[in-house]
Amino acid sequence: MKKHSIWKVKTALKNNNQMTQNNFDIAIVGAGITGLSLAYFLKDTKKRIVLIEKSNALDNTTSKSTAKLSFVQQDIYQKLEKNFGYDISKLYFESQAYAISLMKKIIVENNISCDLEKSNSYLFSMEEENLKILQREKELLTCFGCKCKTAKNLEIPIPVKKAFYVEGNYTFNPVKYMQQITKIVAKKVTIYDNLMVEGIKRQDNYYLLKTKNGVINAKKVVVTNHYPFFIKPYFLPFKNYIKREYVNAAKYSHNENFNAINVDKNLCSIRFYKDYIIYVSNSHRLTNKLDIEKNYCKSRDDFYHFFKKMPEYSWVNQDLITNDYLPVIGEIEKNLYISTGYNAWGMTNGVLGSKIIADLLQNKKNVYASLVNPNRVSAGSILNSIVDALAYIHPYIAAPFYGKNIKVTEEDGVKYNVYEDENGKVHKVRRKCPHLKCNLLFNQEELTWDCPCHGSRFDLDGKLIEGPSKEDIN
Ligand code: FES
Repeated sequence: MKKHSIWKVKTALKNNNQMTQNNFDIAIVGAGITGLSLAYFLKDTKKRIVLIEKSNALDNTTSKSTAKLSFVQQDIYQKLEKNFGYDISKLYFESQAYAISLMKKIIVENNISCDLEKSNSYLFSMEEENLKILQREKELLTCFGCKCKTAKNLEIPIPVKKAFYVEGNYTFNPVKYMQQITKIVAKKVTIYDNLMVEGIKRQDNYYLLKTKNGVINAKKVVVTNHYPFFIKPYFLPFKNYIKREYVNAAKYSHNENFNAINVDKNLCSIRFYKDYIIYVSNSHRLTNKLDIEKNYCKSRDDFYHFFKKMPEYSWVNQDLITNDYLPVIGEIEKNLYISTGYNAWGMTNGVLGSKIIADLLQNKKNVYASLVNPNRVSAGSILNSIVDALAYIHPYIAAPFYGKNIKVTEEDGVKYNVYEDENGKVHKVRRKCPHLKCNLLFNQEELTWDCPCHGSRFDLDGKLIEGPSKEDIN
């Protein structure tokens, strides 16, 4: 079994971190779907643009996505209706349909070969008690203008109480998209990869972006990382939590290319890619009581239970869930923008974020900008903020759990996690995450150190894999 995403490739993004120039109008930090699509929208503006990516391979958050371009998103519309009212719920639906049409346009106009395929989206429930939720989502989608068609089952062995589907959605291969859009963008935009932005500081009318190879100056900065590394401004760690889910894939014969997701508490999400079925399950909030191995095993057991075979690919995905279920896209301080908080719908919201910010940077109107404005307030968000703040404090005060087969040692007052691998090699790293000092957990499945607070991940020797940390452990 391969313990990485089905899309993974070894190709470097561009392999260039030697700065030939360091003065730009716009700096885009992060080259996932949002950063690359933003560079695409801005490439003909005659602005001096730099795109900076911390890694050198297409192995970022986007590459772990299941890459559904779908406006059927569990029970999102009733959650938004409850938080903000019907009109906002409808506006969010329209923003998702708009994002799908934008993405399709980029792919078609540029002949991007990324396996874009039409795919009916099913919404279903496996539990009698959730049929009302399913029904309400169907009513809302119908009010928004969708034709919802009843389905008896999913044509795969997942027991369904009730289901319906809508047309007009798509699936694609996110890494192929990123590879090809990079080539288009690189003709007009400077790309530095394998270059971590370690700090952003405002000075006069510029931002200074500190990197190991020197400082980059930019009039405007857009941070498109899944989880921006800075705390101030905006205090993002207090306004969201990280949800983890487990993804498994194997060859599976099927007739129709469809995608599906349920409204029940136990996530069950499906899509097909060529001969493969991709199945996502076992979603949970990060916590320092996490038994990582048990969660991987459970997701593979579920896969076997339904499809009677073991997965060929198995990986984990992390999503940033905002406290009011809307993404966070816009200006958080003069000339500093973020686009994140996609609530597990990173493909539609990534493209939406890139277009909104491209429009804001060019003083163009975008009807969805106020919907996702980072400075919005809602009653639901205030309540959820309190819950998130408590959850944020919890890992600092709860008794820590380090993971199995780990020794904890102490030298000169500093605590270390120690793991001896199967070849007898000892890997010793500080116990605290460099981001905000939570205790790290050992992930025996992928041989990584995982932070239960905001999802930073490091390899066995402490090298950063995934932020918000911006540095290695030691
Ligand atoms: Fe925030 Fe570790 S403390 S990611």
